[in-house]
Amino acid sequence: MSLYRVGLSRGMLSSFQRVMRGEGLHTSSAVQYEYIKVDKRGEKKNVGLIQLNRLKALNALCDGLVSEIGEALQEMETDTSIDAIVITGSERAFAAGADIAEMKDKSFQDCYARKFLSHWDIISKCPKPTIAAVNGFALGGGCEVAMMCDIIYAGEKAKFGQPEITLGTIPGAGGTQRLTRAIGKSKAMEMILTGEFMSAQEAEKAGLVSKVFPVEELVGEAIKLGERIGEFSQIAAAMCKEAVNMSDELPLSNGLLYEKKLFHSSFATDDKREGMTAFLEKRKPDFKDN
Ligand code: HXC
Repeated sequence: MSLYRVGLSRGMLSSFQRVMRGEGLHTSSAVQYEYIKVDKRGEKKNVGLIQLNRLKALNALCDGLVSEIGEALQEMETDTSIDAIVITGSERAFAAGADIAEMKDKSFQDCYARKFLSHWDIISKCPKPTIAAVNGFALGGGCEVAMMCDIIYAGEKAKFGQPEITLGTIPGAGGTQRLTRAIGKSKAMEMILTGEFMSAQEAEKAGLVSKVFPVEELVGEAIKLGERIGEFSQIAAAMCKEAVNMSDELPLSNGLLYEKKLFHSSFATDDKREGMTAFLEKRKPDFKDN
């Protein structure tokens, strides 16, 4: 029977084949990866770390790399020991964009018929809290991947940009939409229409980034943030994330209604009872994610 028919995606199949052939460089519990490294970090090993590892090309996001991010995220999603996920790159580059060599000869028909870039959506759809830890260049698709995460931490030398216009094209993985929502129309237009980069400090001031750290402390700080989030009820964290993300999709009255429904739903959880009981008993809550 075709492996596709038993539910394996194209990306999963390529990893599966690499495992069977004994190829690949970096291993998680079940899968070997060529373009990323995966690990579990934090005192309780409850923070998943995905490190882009295509250093020669400044982590340019070739198809294989994005597929592997998707596979690692799927694995971390189902791993109940993981509460939050950090995505990072190298000190020189988070990711310098989609792979220009791979795109150069692609036609409209290739893009349209094969739904080019559709598999990138898995990053924004991850139900667990995601943190982008950005050192170096986050350009084009790299900036877009960072913006698909819930929180962006930056190293003090990070550079953000949407330089697609310099290549005769436009952002295609959310840049025109997410950047505009994050920093407002005028700044987003200026970046997108000139291709100029924004420093970490400017990005923090503009609201694209929540905190800036010394380069060598960045990933550790992102892991600590994941650990802090992991102390709470993971059902509540997932509901918070879902409600905040809905603010991009819905008008205010519908967004408020959506929030209220989730708020009411949280009263069905043991964790809500535990959190409120612990407060009144003046003790630390013991959340069971239930
Ligand atoms: C393929 C890339 C790449 C990319 C860098 N490289 N960016 N390869 N795709 N996006 C490769 C270079 O070709 C080079 O390979 C090596 O990485 C090092 O890059 P240099 O240019 O030599 O480094 P440097 O002079 O330090 O300049 C760094 C840089 C520059 C400013 C980041 O590389 C750059 O401008 N890159 C392209 C940025 C960009 O336009 N991104 C948007 C892509 S379009 P060799 O083999 O020569 O050593 C995009 C579309 C998004 O993202 C749409 C939806 C996803």
